[in-house]
Amino acid sequence: MELVVATRNKDKLREIKVLLKGLAVEVFSLDSFKGAPEVIEDGKTLEENAVKKAIQVSEFLKKFAVADDSGLEVDFLNGDPGVYSARFSGKGATYKSNNKKLLRLLKDVPLAKRKACFKCVIAIADKGRIVGVAEGKCRGKIGFESKGKSGFGYDPVFIPDSYNKTFAEMGTSRKNKISHRSKALLKAKKIISKYPSLYQ
Ligand code: IMP
Repeated sequence: MELVVATRNKDKLREIKVLLKGLAVEVFSLDSFKGAPEVIEDGKTLEENAVKKAIQVSEFLKKFAVADDSGLEVDFLNGDPGVYSARFSGKGATYKSNNKKLLRLLKDVPLAKRKACFKCVIAIADKGRIVGVAEGKCRGKIGFESKGKSGFGYDPVFIPDSYNKTFAEMGTSRKNKISHRSKALLKAKKIISKYPSLYQ
């Protein structure tokens, strides 16, 4: 009944832990295990990266693991940054430098052309074997400036459809009701709760 979240991203981990509530598992992060592999995210899709992380970590630890790979696809940029969301502004990229680059590339682009979609893929693996994959999407648009202090990554520039606030302005509990990650984890929880060996 132990589940390892295969990430070293503390922001993602915080959200995933909250979203996994209700599942009869004890959640650990990679930080609890010395020597866990540093998985190279060289896949061409979010799914490839999520599956690779889940397999490598669950195989190494001989445990049940979930991995998240996520990104932001911007229509005006033909789907970029997508799988490269974390490294969008190059070597040493930070959340701030990524948002700055995104706002610069969309400078003078009208609201109607600022459509974007957050995607999250959750891969679930048991001792090196894939058990299931779940995807979640959240559509919205990119604002004209960074707004709000909560969340992480592109949250200050992403305004979900039907809202006039960024993810970072609305706060994590509201974000967690509508986000790409919450939708993917809802599906993942159904897969996990039906997976027998977790409860042996
Ligand atoms: P990766 O999944 O580790 O490759 O990184 C995904 C990157 O996408 C993060 O570093 C963030 O910049 C961005 N990202 C993923 N999910 C979110 C989110 O929920 N809010 C804001 N940014 C996100």
